[in-house]
Amino acid sequence: MELKDKLKVSVIGSGYVGLVTGVALAELGHSVICMDVDESKIAEIKKGNIPIYEPGLGELLLKNKAEGRLKFSSSLKEAVDHGLIIFIAVGTPPKSSGEADLSYVENVAREIAINMDSYRLIVEKSTVPVETGERVRQAMQLYIKGDIDFDVASNPEFLREGSAVDDFLHPDRIVIGVDSSKARDLLFCLYSPLAAPLIVTDIKSAELIKHASNSFLALKISFINAVSRISEMVGADVDKIAEGMGMDERIGKRFLNAGIGYGGSCFPKDVDAFIHMSEVLGYDFKLLKEVRKINEEQRQIVLKKIKEGLWILKDKKIVLWGASFKPGTDDLRGAPAIDIIEALLKEDAKVTVVDPQALDKLKDIFKDKISYEVDKYKAAKDADCILLTTEWDDFKDVDFKQLKDIMRLAFIVDGRNLYKHSELDSHGFLYLPFGSSAVGKPIGDKKVI
Ligand code: UDX
Repeated sequence: MELKDKLKVSVIGSGYVGLVTGVALAELGHSVICMDVDESKIAEIKKGNIPIYEPGLGELLLKNKAEGRLKFSSSLKEAVDHGLIIFIAVGTPPKSSGEADLSYVENVAREIAINMDSYRLIVEKSTVPVETGERVRQAMQLYIKGDIDFDVASNPEFLREGSAVDDFLHPDRIVIGVDSSKARDLLFCLYSPLAAPLIVTDIKSAELIKHASNSFLALKISFINAVSRISEMVGADVDKIAEGMGMDERIGKRFLNAGIGYGGSCFPKDVDAFIHMSEVLGYDFKLLKEVRKINEEQRQIVLKKIKEGLWILKDKKIVLWGASFKPGTDDLRGAPAIDIIEALLKEDAKVTVVDPQALDKLKDIFKDKISYEVDKYKAAKDADCILLTTEWDDFKDVDFKQLKDIMRLAFIVDGRNLYKHSELDSHGFLYLPFGSSAVGKPIGDKKVI
């Protein structure tokens, strides 16, 4: 096998990770089948209707499909027949205990074993607990017919929603967990078109790199959020603190933005899973429990800040600018906005939400309990408070004079520390950011912690 060889690849599970992986591998020149048991989803994708909002994905999918490198199927047998390398990219949803549900992974491993007739390399792409590679191997050995050789590998993804395609094609590093040179060489060949450093480890270390990386990033966010509370108490500025810390190359400036905390489909779930996994192994990961607690508290602090400005929330019009857990996605999983809306509704506030992408999904959750608006100024009419929840571009460019004239009260809670104190001050707003002094005079209790 030459490094430049094009390989046959199948990706089982055409959700977020699977679809991006399949499309990007086709873009690298490999011959790819993306498979999913959901026939209607596959039928829609074949028509070019992408089930998720991810910049650049649709264009690359259509291009590679047209050029004959990318196919879609709902037949697992077809996928197993095609792929020398088979990625498992099915869901690993959390159980109520935080433990990852691995039943889809096990099911796919079993089905691959039953259907394969010659060597295959099975690669875990889904985020799974340590030792899942081992279990996949054992499960396959139980069901395999005859004496067929196979390898299992772990190749965790580090894709961020909103820039997943770009992250795949320009990764910081590629982690390859293998226990055979054949598996290593195949994955080297697969990724040879990418100019990224490869780190080769044993399978368990690769599995742990994924959990440790996501948990560490969550820890950075909770750390700065904890610092932001102290900063607020003494009237310092957390953004300046983060800047000063981040200039130390050992710390780095990324993921030190204080605010309403992290959400999404990965950080909350992966932190829970790492805590649970450690507990099962006999280690009480107290540090991570505190990371999770700080993150949950940030959402309560939002409510306290709104009360600082309004005292009573009943019948007050609160407008959320942003619903998705971050800009560039319509994903509401783990989004702080969901908890915040629920808390506001409990206080009988009137809630309006503006979001450029996530309103349809939000309507499925809150139906007619809240109002929805696409225009940020229209939404702000007669509002008592605007809460900036997601730093979409549209919310970065604000005519504060116009906004003040429209709102009933000129009051902004900035959950992402996006705006300039001086600008809000000059327009006469009450402005409550996270981790720095308020602009204007709050009426409520200043002690938010
Ligand atoms: C994350 C990881 O970055 C990625 O490597 C992994 O594969 C999947 O999980 P993603 O969930 O898409 O990606 O979002 P990310 O950009 O990492 O942000 C996660 C959350 O943290 C968002 O809610 C974001 O608003 C929040 N965040 C991020 C902060 O609150 N402060 C920061 O400084 C950075």
